[in-house]
Amino acid sequence: MPFEYLNTHLQQQQQHALLRIRHVVQRATARTITVNNATYLNFASNDYLGFGDCSINLEQNNVLGSHSSPLVTGYQAQQQQLEQYLCSALGYEAGMLFNSGFSANSSVIKALFNDKNAAQNSAIFQDKLNHASLIDGAMHSNAALICFNHNDLKHLHSRLEKSKAHNKLIISEGVFSMDGDTAPIKELLALAKEHNAWLMIDDAHGFGALGKTGLGSCEALLDEGLALPDILVITFGKAVASSGACVLANNEFINYMLQFNRDYTYSTAMSPLMAALTLTRLQAIKCADVKREQLSSNIAFFKQLCKQHAIAVMESNTAIQPIVLGCAEQTLHAAQRLKQQGIWLTAIRPPTVAHNTARLRVTLTAAHTHADITALVEHLKGAIA
Ligand SMILES: Cc1ncc(COP(=O)(O)O)c(C=O)c1O
Repeated sequence: MPFEYLNTHLQQQQQHALLRIRHVVQRATARTITVNNATYLNFASNDYLGFGDCSINLEQNNVLGSHSSPLVTGYQAQQQQLEQYLCSALGYEAGMLFNSGFSANSSVIKALFNDKNAAQNSAIFQDKLNHASLIDGAMHSNAALICFNHNDLKHLHSRLEKSKAHNKLIISEGVFSMDGDTAPIKELLALAKEHNAWLMIDDAHGFGALGKTGLGSCEALLDEGLALPDILVITFGKAVASSGACVLANNEFINYMLQFNRDYTYSTAMSPLMAALTLTRLQAIKCADVKREQLSSNIAFFKQLCKQHAIAVMESNTAIQPIVLGCAEQTLHAAQRLKQQGIWLTAIRPPTVAHNTARLRVTLTAAHTHADITALVEHLKGAIA
């Protein structure tokens, strides 16, 4: 029988409590989710500010399709305006839109090291907890992949010192998607400078939620008048509650990507409708102080309740508040028990996280009330006991 390994692997996934399934979501807001006609409190959304609940005006933005690659006729005014907005807000020369953050990350890294001769003299230094899209990009590139321990500057320093590579790229995330902690971007920039390396930051979970005006993990650097990472990736699927991504860099870098990035060249450009609506959302995010304050208050409240009830959460001050249980099966059972109590939470299991670090990934949003969070913590106590 051809392809019999499919069945073998599926059975193994099931046996190890690692099987993934999809749920048909009838309706989801940042606060609630309805599945199979049952409505739960939703603590698994990346819509950190609750913008997904806001209505949008489709009337003025009615061009649905871009009809071709951006290098053919797909690059339209709406996409250019979105890129330019981000460039001017964050002080970059140029930007480039992708239909997803995964595509942006993986394709940009691959394309950057497409020169086989140069790649022999190139190395990519990745935080061990970096997202799969960043790791995949490096694995599919011609450069050497060197991982450093999570947020461990000393380890990174020693790896940079040992490297003989001429072209060095350090990659980290602004906010780590499965741990919720933040990268020491200022120190990473200093290390990059010391070693003549470039720094790339994926700010998928920082943009919108962090920074005085929601510009993300780098806004504090801007406020201090410091240089920003050489490459910054903003994704629109989380706090922006849209989809797609923008890569920001200098003109030469973006021009190089225009020539050699295969995802960009051979894929239909982002829908103009999506670009226009995303731009409107970015303008709203800039003024969303109240939502950011509500989110901060919810994070502080959750952490305080967890402390009171001796629930061990990770060292995170962001909307991502994981509770590591270790065993995949136990984590799955805990998520199932919570579901029975009306709480929707995702059990994050390997390979998304390391073996024996399965966790309940609680995500808080500005749309939750303190009563919602109190109910969550009450039920968590029982589910993880
Ligand atoms: C850190 C990080 N980077 C990139 C991505 C991919 O972004 P997108 O969902 O737009 O493909 C994700 C999404 O899960 C993420 O968590």
